[in-house]
Amino acid sequence: MAGVIIVLAFFLAHQLLLPCASSAIDRNQFPPDFLFGTSTSAYQIEGGYLEGNKGLSNWDIFTHTQGKVEDGTNGDTADDHYHHYMEDIELMHSMGVNSYRFSIAWARILPKGRFGHVNPDGVALYNALIDALLQRGIEPFVTISHFDIPYELEERYGGWLSPKIRRDFGYLADVCFRMFGDRVKFWITFNEPNMFTKLGYIYGRFPPGHCSRPFGNCTFGNSSTEPYIAGHNIILSHANVVNIYKKKYQGKQGGRIGITVQSRWYEPFRNTPTDILGVERALSFGAPWFLDPIILGHYPSAMRKILGPNLPEFTLKQKKILQTSKLDFIGLNHYSTNYLKDSISSSSPCELDQYDGDAQISTSAERDGILIGERVNMYCCNVNVFEEKFQVGNWPTALMVERPGCSSSRFG
Ligand SMILES: *[C@@H]1O[C@H](CO)[C@@H](O)[C@H](O)[C@H]1NC(C)=O
Ligand SMILES: *[C@@H]1O[C@H](CO)[C@@H](O)[C@H](O)[C@H]1NC(C)=O
Repeated sequence: MAGVIIVLAFFLAHQLLLPCASSAIDRNQFPPDFLFGTSTSAYQIEGGYLEGNKGLSNWDIFTHTQGKVEDGTNGDTADDHYHHYMEDIELMHSMGVNSYRFSIAWARILPKGRFGHVNPDGVALYNALIDALLQRGIEPFVTISHFDIPYELEERYGGWLSPKIRRDFGYLADVCFRMFGDRVKFWITFNEPNMFTKLGYIYGRFPPGHCSRPFGNCTFGNSSTEPYIAGHNIILSHANVVNIYKKKYQGKQGGRIGITVQSRWYEPFRNTPTDILGVERALSFGAPWFLDPIILGHYPSAMRKILGPNLPEFTLKQKKILQTSKLDFIGLNHYSTNYLKDSISSSSPCELDQYDGDAQISTSAERDGILIGERVNMYCCNVNVFEEKFQVGNWPTALMVERPGCSSSRFG
């Protein structure tokens, strides 16, 4: 570790401006070099889904498939950032933020993955965005993959379920480092892979819409195995890209690279050994599912114990690759804390938690009618867990933190 602790708060847009935060936040409460930022992802804001010779993404196909989105809406236009990014940068500047995290739409840069050309229009868009940000004193943080992949890769070999995607992701990242790395000094390989694998392969609510009973009624999928196969390929894709950056680019470009994972927190519902153990188990199905292999070279033992052979193994060669790909920082997205009840010891059937159900737990936001914390926007609930609880033993200490706030329509 370089020994520098980066603490970043990505407060969504208006939290700093509108009286929706419970207590006012003052710049003076933070060190002078603290970065306040906003954060988006390509599919959620860009729109322009057929413009600039962009290829179709898994999200374009998914949202256009009847029955996948309840009200039939899609991201064809979204916030129309594609046409309004200069105004968006002015808005950020007027709010006083000094960092902005956005993601690259893979199919905009590589419409057909490595099976086609590098799209100059896509490169030009992100070049213009990066230049305009820097001119406004806003540090760009680039997420290389935030849920979207070229549909071509889904069709050719099944996307994240195939080891072939590791090579495609490496190809994308290499193009990004080469094209943008002279100006981009913070790279995030993946955003919340522990979330999109669950939603895409356990519940079928994200593309590719895979699931099996009892988790959902999908045409394709196996909720017990696929999320862990996809996760395995993501972990190895991440490691490969960290190595590419370290070997080929970091020396001359001087940036840093990390990954961002979703990190829920749990409190035991009852003060019993089973609920307390359940908390530990559930936490390891969250961030450590990805961070333990990336940092320690193996999956958490609590996951192995429950999942057995459904959780892939790393070969010796893969373990070596994991060992050599050292992260510069860890990004944690934290939205909510819940009470947790252990389900293994429970005699009556209870509804398994919808994100960490494989950990054999059920969750609730309240106990005896009292919410665990303050309700924040659509998420329940905000409990201040960071300082004390995310000081995790063997992981490097550099953190980047995203928390939800009130959001406006432009920066949803
Ligand atoms: C599952 O989906 C199929 C095909 O979409 C449909 O015909 C069937 O009624 C669904 N079953 C349930 C239990 O929802
Ligand atoms: C999922 O895969 C596992 C392991 O191959 C198998 O035992 C199980 O029956 C499969 N489930 C479904 C719903 O296909």
